[in-house]
Amino acid sequence: MKFLLATVAATVIATVAFAADPVPADLRATALDIFKPLPSTYPAVNDNPITKEKIDLGKALFFDPRLSASGVFSCNSCHNLATGGDDNLETSIGHGWQKGPRNSPTALNAVFNEAQFWDGRAEDLKAQAKGPIQAGVEMANTPAQVVATLKSMPKYVDWFKAAFPSDADPVTFDNMAKAIEAFEATLITPAPFDAYLNGDDGAMTAEQKEGLALFMDKGCASCHSGINIGGNGYYPFGLIEKPGSEVLPENDKGRFAVTATADDSYVFRAAPLRNVTLTAPYFHSGKVWNLRQAVAIMGTSQLGEDLSETEVDRIVAFLGSLEGRMPEVVYPVLPAETGDTPLPSG
Ligand code: HEM
Ligand code: HEM
Repeated sequence: MKFLLATVAATVIATVAFAADPVPADLRATALDIFKPLPSTYPAVNDNPITKEKIDLGKALFFDPRLSASGVFSCNSCHNLATGGDDNLETSIGHGWQKGPRNSPTALNAVFNEAQFWDGRAEDLKAQAKGPIQAGVEMANTPAQVVATLKSMPKYVDWFKAAFPSDADPVTFDNMAKAIEAFEATLITPAPFDAYLNGDDGAMTAEQKEGLALFMDKGCASCHSGINIGGNGYYPFGLIEKPGSEVLPENDKGRFAVTATADDSYVFRAAPLRNVTLTAPYFHSGKVWNLRQAVAIMGTSQLGEDLSETEVDRIVAFLGSLEGRMPEVVYPVLPAETGDTPLPSG
């Protein structure tokens, strides 16, 4: 009898232990069907062979505030590589202290997004880089003024020659964008999730693995997939239930502004989720400062599901496994202005 009781107890405990262990045996294999680990080195980009000279020039340009009309804003002002590649503001502040309309996404791993911006309106990073320099609320400059500024500093002219050796006139707005793209392609952050996908079982905690299982089971991964866990498809924000205007302001209709198609109203690119633990506040509106709250909103708005506290905790733990090793970026020393350098304005 004693033996029987012990056996029953052992069976019950075993059953409970099994039921309480939501990490399926085939977790990695299932994950590998949906996600891809980061490559071990930076990727190739279209029409822009990456060389050391281009990366070095691109880094100087990324940190140079003289690309802006006021001489105040560099790419790094809003994509601060010391703070997760973004600016930690609801929406960015640019030229003349203006508050822009959207939250700044991280520049880290952006090279893996299928298109750039919350609405995907730039096809790649070289197309993207020309936008902020000319945007009135960001850097408010003109291509001609940028080229004049760069040409006024002999060191920049040398660096452009080294980066684009076959060009007769290498200091151009297009080449500036290509160099910035080359530098941005090096901003990749391998994370515990990548180590796990590559076969290291110990790289993620049990809770992070439970969160990964939930992320796939619940359907988050149907939109946030691929190498960047997002950044690769467009969906209505509020697919099942539209969030209130305190999260989804009515005046920003997302891809509708790009395609002018009614079906694209409030459609946005599924946000890439690498390093999301570092990039509060969340959503294109930057209205949500807490990651648990952002996850719960996704549950109701995209899946029609009220996630439990434990489910949210586990998913947030999984998102923590996407926080990667930051690239080591040595702060560049920039060429000094000369008498020919246009003065800051505005
Ligand atoms: C978007 C890079 C300057 C604010 C982006 C993205 C990249 C990027 C790669 C797209 C990321 C993604 O879609 O996930 C750069 C570079 C800059 C620069 C290379 C310098 C040439 C700035 C400045 C500001 C800023 C100075 C702030 C004043 C933003 C905002 C977005 C954005 C708000 C999102 C805009 C939207 O989706 O409509 N930037 N950026 N950027 N950047 Fe920058
Ligand atoms: C944005 C997580 C399901 C589409 C986000 C953000 C997080 C997140 C944390 C904000 C990222 C940031 O601001 O940088 C999740 C989780 C999900 C889930 C944990 C499952 C519970 C989905 C689904 C879809 C989707 C199923 C598509 C139907 C989007 C879109 C955005 C986004 C379009 C950008 C929204 C905006 O414009 O601000 N997601 N997501 N998500 N997600 Fe999800």
